[in-house]
Amino acid sequence: MQVAVIGANGGIGRELLPRLEDAGHEPIGVVRDESQFDEIRDRGGEPRLGDLEGEFESAIEGADALVFTAGAGGDTDWGKTLLIDLWGAKRTIDACVEHGIDRYVMISSQGTDDPMTGPDAMRPYW
Ligand SMILES: NC(=O)c1ccc[n+]([C@@H]2O[C@H](COP(=O)([O-])OP(=O)(O)OC[C@H]3O[C@@H](n4cnc5c(N)ncnc54)[C@H](OP(=O)(O)O)[C@@H]3O)[C@@H](O)[C@H]2O)c1
Repeated sequence: MQVAVIGANGGIGRELLPRLEDAGHEPIGVVRDESQFDEIRDRGGEPRLGDLEGEFESAIEGADALVFTAGAGGDTDWGKTLLIDLWGAKRTIDACVEHGIDRYVMISSQGTDDPMTGPDAMRPYW
């Protein structure tokens, strides 16, 4: 099946693309910079442009499944984490509903059901 990977050039995304291909799937590597296209092709993915802070829906057209493995990264402030890791993820869920994509995998974190119990640095993730 066609599997759209959001965050395809991240640490997890880069590991995932060849594994999807080896398993007989057709990975779509969604990235926000065309300079990453060759890297995505080298890893067996079809590169497409999509930005969680802008337009990404055209990048998931035709997909049967979506893996969300994007993240603002540890060097950004909490606001960016919430914008990408929370609201970006929610936008992809809404887009999947809209496009009839009924398989969705979220690369999440421990403790997400109770962020107030986490250490300060982890609270936006939990
Ligand atoms: N690595 C771990 O041990 C671990 C453990 C638990 C949970 N997680 C979670 O899993 C997710 C991925 O982890 P990772 O280690 O692979 O992270 P990563 O290496 O930082 O990769 C994150 C990817 O998200 C992309 N991204 C950032 N903002 C975006 C936007 N606006 N639109 C589209 N893509 C965007 C980045 O694109 P650019 O390449 O353009 O910057 C990057 O390729 C994160 O949410 C992280 O919190 C990771």
